[in-house]
Amino acid sequence: MSTTFQLDTSTSRATPTPKPRKRLTVPRIRDHKKDGTTKEPLVMLTAYTARQAQLLDTHCDMLLVGDSLGQVIYGLDSTLPVTPEMMIAHGAAVVRGSYHSVVVVDMPFGSYEGSKEQAFDTASRIMAETGCAAVKLEGGEAMAETVAFLSNRGMPVMGHVGLTPQAVNVLGGYAARGRSQHEHEKIIADGKALEEAGAFSVVVEGVIEPIAISLTQSLEVPVIGIGASAQCDGQVLVTEDMLGMFERVPRFVKRYENIAEVIDKTVATYAEEVRARSFPTAEQTYQPKS
Ligand code: KIV
Repeated sequence: MSTTFQLDTSTSRATPTPKPRKRLTVPRIRDHKKDGTTKEPLVMLTAYTARQAQLLDTHCDMLLVGDSLGQVIYGLDSTLPVTPEMMIAHGAAVVRGSYHSVVVVDMPFGSYEGSKEQAFDTASRIMAETGCAAVKLEGGEAMAETVAFLSNRGMPVMGHVGLTPQAVNVLGGYAARGRSQHEHEKIIADGKALEEAGAFSVVVEGVIEPIAISLTQSLEVPVIGIGASAQCDGQVLVTEDMLGMFERVPRFVKRYENIAEVIDKTVATYAEEVRARSFPTAEQTYQPKS
């Protein structure tokens, strides 16, 4: 069922109808996988704005305020220049626009790798200033101590292994990972280290399918795939990719719509009407009261 929103112009809060279900919690996401198996996969999409969150919320279990907003919203060529301030502004908007999903906010490059104390400062700021339920960070074994430090101090952490875009300069590009036996073993070890450290879930991105399947079978916590496998415990995509906002379609993206084309056609019609003075009409203008 689709949701409609009544806007309160003084607070900018939009009240949804029907009334939303209670917001999911991190323990519920964690316990969605029972005895190593998940009946119904978890649904996750990225969201960067309040309105986008409103539209996605009823259909999703988790919304990810990904640092992919660097490319998608800010036109940057990687996620590296993304700042905590950007993540906080968009994270707070997504929390305001959602009522049901668990909102996870990415920790941006350079804001957590220096030490577990640096990670604590960034994560606590993100959680306090956005109201999100969890943070996500990239890296496996090297980040395990940090994940334990945060999760033991009230900050739920989602891990991210495989293709980790913040490490693009070490990896040498965005190609799928895990083609050698060494890499295969390393990705599994990374996932296990995160789980042992207390991560409530792990994203696996851009890996050959057998790795995604064996990671999913090896971990007790839900493994969320992107460019991974339908056998994962859940899936995440960048919303703008699946809506068809961009010309470039990575192999792992299914384009469910072609929104770029809809926008192009709609704006062309608007431009034509403005130039022909056929917009606005009497319907969209204010006339003196008689
Ligand atoms: O930043 C992001 O959107 C992500 C997903 C691609 C998993 O990390």
